[in-house]
Amino acid sequence: MERALSNQVKDKIGQTVTIRGWAETVRKHAKVVFIDVRDRTGLVQVVCTEKLLEVANSISPESVVTITGTVTERPQSLVNVNIVSGTVELQADSITVESVAKTLPMPLNDRAVSEETRLKYRYLDLRSKKMAENIRMRHQMNQFLREELTKLDFVEVETPYISKSTPEGARDYLVPSRIQPGNFYALPQSPQQYKQLLMVAGLERYFQIARCFRDEDARGDRQPEFSQLDLELSFTSQEEILQVTESLFLGLVKKFFPEKTLTFNTIPRLTYKEVMEQYGTDKPDLRQDKTNDDELAFAFIIDFPMFEWKESEKRFDATHHPFTAPKPEWEDNFEKHPEEALALQHDFVLNGSEIAGGSVRIHRADVLERVFEFLGHNKEKIRADFGHLLEAFEYGVPPHGGIAPGLDRIYTILLKENSIRDVIAFAKAGDGRDLMMNAPSPVDDAQLKELGLKKIG
Ligand code: AMO
Repeated sequence: MERALSNQVKDKIGQTVTIRGWAETVRKHAKVVFIDVRDRTGLVQVVCTEKLLEVANSISPESVVTITGTVTERPQSLVNVNIVSGTVELQADSITVESVAKTLPMPLNDRAVSEETRLKYRYLDLRSKKMAENIRMRHQMNQFLREELTKLDFVEVETPYISKSTPEGARDYLVPSRIQPGNFYALPQSPQQYKQLLMVAGLERYFQIARCFRDEDARGDRQPEFSQLDLELSFTSQEEILQVTESLFLGLVKKFFPEKTLTFNTIPRLTYKEVMEQYGTDKPDLRQDKTNDDELAFAFIIDFPMFEWKESEKRFDATHHPFTAPKPEWEDNFEKHPEEALALQHDFVLNGSEIAGGSVRIHRADVLERVFEFLGHNKEKIRADFGHLLEAFEYGVPPHGGIAPGLDRIYTILLKENSIRDVIAFAKAGDGRDLMMNAPSPVDDAQLKELGLKKIG
């Protein structure tokens, strides 16, 4: 049955219809009460008179109502072009109040409300026009990406969330095991190892809208959990990975944001060296007019150094992650000149933000082992942490590579939001807390005991 409010009344002049939704505003006059009823599709003005005045007067804003009435044309002078059903209104015959709303703790549609309040009452914040639109746009964009990748023969595979740590440079969220006391799962910082194992498994083209978990400070464009469009391809090249990414995101912009201008119609491939020399950053903002947020400057950065020196630990670390392949000319000798060795890594930047990272992978177990050794992992640790991957690589692994666009960051820029939190339905506050659910929160001693854990201090 058609329930969408704007379709219920559109082209239905003279007919009796029933609409259901929230009483967004209730305007009271002596002989008439106007209620703007809102549902997911828009607003309808309801006119209540005579026998309905009493109940209409009692309705508080944001109460949920079911109203039956006759659709009539609005007088020409009162046509409201701002609402979907602005040319018609509903003369109410009966009103049922499904639930009464208390006075809201915050006004809807007012971005001056503190973010803390918006996050605490997120279910109300999501009723606001902009947030509702962002969530719906996010769905449509996710859907587009899924469809495009499916057309390109990619298969979406869900990989585990409770698993083993994969190094992506942040701290892990750990999950204690009840059945194996003293042992922990780690929430994945990304599905990196799984997607490589799916290449060993013969999938050839994998994608997933994957949640990633990183215990790091939630700075402006970071969340402790965020979503990646995770991709991996077998028998591929760096150029093919970039082309797939380019076609996906230029296609997305063309479909959903035709009003935006592209600084470059073909996305440039710039080397790390040249952007560092020219702009002093590996995520340059290449827009011609930086005040125009409808301009999009996408760029790929390639030829990253394979390693970076970590002064705090007095050792080299992988610039991207240890699975990143050296450029072929560095495969045999990256240990000799680690500061010069270049990797088949690629970053994707948009208006000065890093929106994706990826690489061609090392598919030879011996080279991977050399990288781990160079990074200072001892043999036992390598076996314990990555033995499964190294073993898998001994049974026929195709050359492979991939990329992972960070969807929250991309949608923030495309939807012209200031914060990554405004494109995530239930976002965490800057300090990592979920203010609505009040998490993290203490657990009782019995639960800890069951997990073999003890509080210290
Ligand atoms: P990387 O660690 O570069 O690569 O992450 C890819 C992209 O994910 C986004 N991102 C984040 N978004 C919001 N909050 C965060 N805390 C956060 N951290 C990262 C960024 C980033 O560019 N497994 C590799 C990908 C690969 O090699 O294929 C990976 O995760 O937009």
